Amino acid sequence: MSRIEAPRDEDSAAGTLVGRLLGVLPPDSVLTDPDVTASYAHDMASFCPAGTPAAVVLPRTVEEVQHVLRTATDLRVPVVPQGARTGLSGAANATDGCVVLSLTRMDRILEIDPVDRIAVVEPGVVNAVLSRAVEEHGLSYPPDPSSWETCTIGGNIGTASGGLCCVKYGVTAEYVLGLDVVLADGRLMTTGRRTAKGVAGYDLTRLFVGSEGSLGVVVRAVLALRPKPPAQLVLAAEFASAADACDAVCRVMEEGHVPSLLELMDRTTVKAVNDLARMGLPETTEALLLAAFDTADPAADLAAVGALCEAAGATQVVPAEDAAESHLLLQARRLSLTALEAVKGTTMIDDVCVPRSRLGEMLEGIERIAGKYRLTIGVCAHAGDGNTHPTVCFDAQDPDESRRARESFDEIMALGLELGGTITGEHGVGVLKKEWLAREIGPVGLEMQRAVKKTFDPLGILNPGKVF
Ligand code: LAC
Ligand code: ZN
Repeated sequence: MSRIEAPRDEDSAAGTLVGRLLGVLPPDSVLTDPDVTASYAHDMASFCPAGTPAAVVLPRTVEEVQHVLRTATDLRVPVVPQGARTGLSGAANATDGCVVLSLTRMDRILEIDPVDRIAVVEPGVVNAVLSRAVEEHGLSYPPDPSSWETCTIGGNIGTASGGLCCVKYGVTAEYVLGLDVVLADGRLMTTGRRTAKGVAGYDLTRLFVGSEGSLGVVVRAVLALRPKPPAQLVLAAEFASAADACDAVCRVMEEGHVPSLLELMDRTTVKAVNDLARMGLPETTEALLLAAFDTADPAADLAAVGALCEAAGATQVVPAEDAAESHLLLQARRLSLTALEAVKGTTMIDDVCVPRSRLGEMLEGIERIAGKYRLTIGVCAHAGDGNTHPTVCFDAQDPDESRRARESFDEIMALGLELGGTITGEHGVGVLKKEWLAREIGPVGLEMQRAVKKTFDPLGILNPGKVF
């Protein structure tokens, strides 16, 4: 469903669109200056085409969102919902003549309830703002994408975001209990629940998580919270090969440990982070594994995991001295992708997730692909989840290198599928991987997904050209 029907009449001219929007929205909520709207044209993914929006709309209320959708339906104008544009698949990119619907001004935390252990929020609430607010109540909202300081909950729901702590706490989908959604025609639908349990009807809440703005616009979310865990303590283990590091990951999981994160950075990534931020990470190591525990006795758990790392061949195992040092190590990990960008100016960030038992084969394959295409491919990974971010570093001014970058990127996805994995663990399909979706889910799966899309968005006005 990437095509929009032809406009009904002349009314669809941009002037009419803006005039209709201004009938309900205040002037400061409808931006049309091309210099300003251009800054809303794309998210953080490279190699994803972006069009020119007719307008950027920043609603403050549900009613305003409903007005935008009713107007768009009447005029057959595409609508591209957006959060903070930290996405990595082009899902939030504008299409020509669209209304960019930025939800960033709907940023209120409506409720935090420690008894029901829920928060009710608007979509524009920044992940870190919510995390800090619930902490004051002795609670935590676990999903923590690397962009947590800036990304929004609406964006996290749109892309079903993961993060570093997912190995213990799971991904965004596991925390979304209920939603208010404005549908393509402007109707308001409530899904799900605020109760601990609930099985009434199909799980439309889950359907919307990861739907990348293609089925409706989330305007309110009921989120599950957890009790705030103790501060986590991190250990860094150095390995002479990525294979040894992957072996350590398997041992840790097999022995039944539940780390609050288990991350891997390869030598290229470590060096890039040091070059960018002078973090002093060990550059002689081929793979650095970061493990953490937020248990009652994290030092004891880290000692056990440290022993497993040594058994797998770790050359050095260094537990952080305290929370501050732990924080620094995580900061280094979160900087990985920014740092890799500095290596050659441009990156293509992949997001292939394989069963963690196949992680070693995945890393070995990535190294082979890097050699074949004569490219630098840095890898950081949510190793405990088998979720790799092979990041192709290249010079976008060099057409041959750019071609090789795209080919290697595709070959990495093919390898992931061969190993029983998925083309995207947490970044979504967007524009970047839409040619690959059918390969993963097959023709019948694709047909049913298109049928779902048609039910919710018969005119195809919601984020056209994405996902399929
Ligand atoms: C990370 C983001 C890119 O893991 O998913 O840093
Ligand atoms: Zn990630």
